[in-house]
Amino acid sequence: MRVIVTGGAGYIGSHTVRELARAGWDVVVIDNLVYGHRAAIIDPEVTLLEGSLDDQKILDQAFSKPVDVVVHFAAYAYVGESVTEPLKYYQNNLAAPLTLLARMKAENCTRFVFSSTCATYGIPEEMPIVETLAQNPINPYGQSKLMLEKVLQDCETAWGLKSVFLRYFNAAGSSSDGKIGEDHNPETHLIPLVIAAGMGKRKDIKIFGSDYPTPDGTCVRDYIHVEDLASAHSKAITYLSDGGDTIAVNLGTGIPVSVNELIQTFEKVTGLKVPVQYTDRRPGDPPELLADPSRAKEVLGWQAVNSDISNILESAYRWFSQPHGGKYESNSPQKTTDVEK
Ligand SMILES: NC(=O)c1ccc[n+]([C@@H]2O[C@H](COP(=O)([O-])OP(=O)(O)OC[C@H]3O[C@@H](n4cnc5c(N)ncnc54)[C@H](O)[C@@H]3O)[C@@H](O)[C@H]2O)c1
Repeated sequence: MRVIVTGGAGYIGSHTVRELARAGWDVVVIDNLVYGHRAAIIDPEVTLLEGSLDDQKILDQAFSKPVDVVVHFAAYAYVGESVTEPLKYYQNNLAAPLTLLARMKAENCTRFVFSSTCATYGIPEEMPIVETLAQNPINPYGQSKLMLEKVLQDCETAWGLKSVFLRYFNAAGSSSDGKIGEDHNPETHLIPLVIAAGMGKRKDIKIFGSDYPTPDGTCVRDYIHVEDLASAHSKAITYLSDGGDTIAVNLGTGIPVSVNELIQTFEKVTGLKVPVQYTDRRPGDPPELLADPSRAKEVLGWQAVNSDISNILESAYRWFSQPHGGKYESNSPQKTTDVEK
């Protein structure tokens, strides 16, 4: 059974690649290493094709044997940058996957697992968020993801492509054995920034807004452990292999964690002190984002088992407190496209 994983050298992709390789899949990663890390692919039997998912030569190699399913992580995911450079986002997150989808159609490969996001909901009218809620993204990043969902629905109608849209909430944590973890550059996610502040690697952590209508005034989010996300991809593949139709599924816990609560928990589990600076609200940040994860349980038989916030923070801290400081070895400057074994 062969699976193509685009973006498999990135944060969530690399944890999922590991899960799929352990389950015995023949895993082929397509990653141009713009943000990914060669060293994040630790299983020697996994093939890395270094290049873009819309490069026909790369696709020729990836489809050199029949492919059962494509798991699509590759994307740009910086919300702020998407506002200033929308074309870059529509090109990479929407246009580039069209080439991949056209090749899937030509190869009669009809199963697709898509990294969508809670950002497609925009500022939701109801909480917790169910999948049937209106989707009104408020930035080009969220738009690009919603548009690809619509493309995938049209492909189902036209040629029978079956997709699972996995709408992640806040991905967090690192592998339980500390071997792989989060290494974004630049880093914009709260937990790595809190850890850096706690470890004295940055002056402080800025908290945007302390006057929200939430129990302690700071924003409330839904954190999901990256290994729980990885297992959800495995379940989504099984769902499609069993003949499941196209469906959207939230991946979160539904458990509210405020920014203040997260920092206090981090201080408790590590004994470190995090310097905090409260500043104004950031435009576009909803006070609260929480998943209703019931559909994931009903349809995929999935639920989060590692996503207690203490466990997430411990695993993330384990990664960042290693001698490498949570940084992978840099990718080789020598760029090749024929690294397939
Ligand atoms: N991290 C989160 O909290 C979160 C939340 C919701 C959704 N998502 C989505 O999950 C996916 C993975 O996120 P991540 O945090 O692991 O990001 P990441 O940047 O670590 O991983 C993305 C990977 O895709 C690769 N890539 C980008 N464009 C490519 C292209 N054209 N061809 C080949 N490879 C390409 C990058 O090099 C990188 O390795 C993204 O689609 C993101 O939008 C992430």
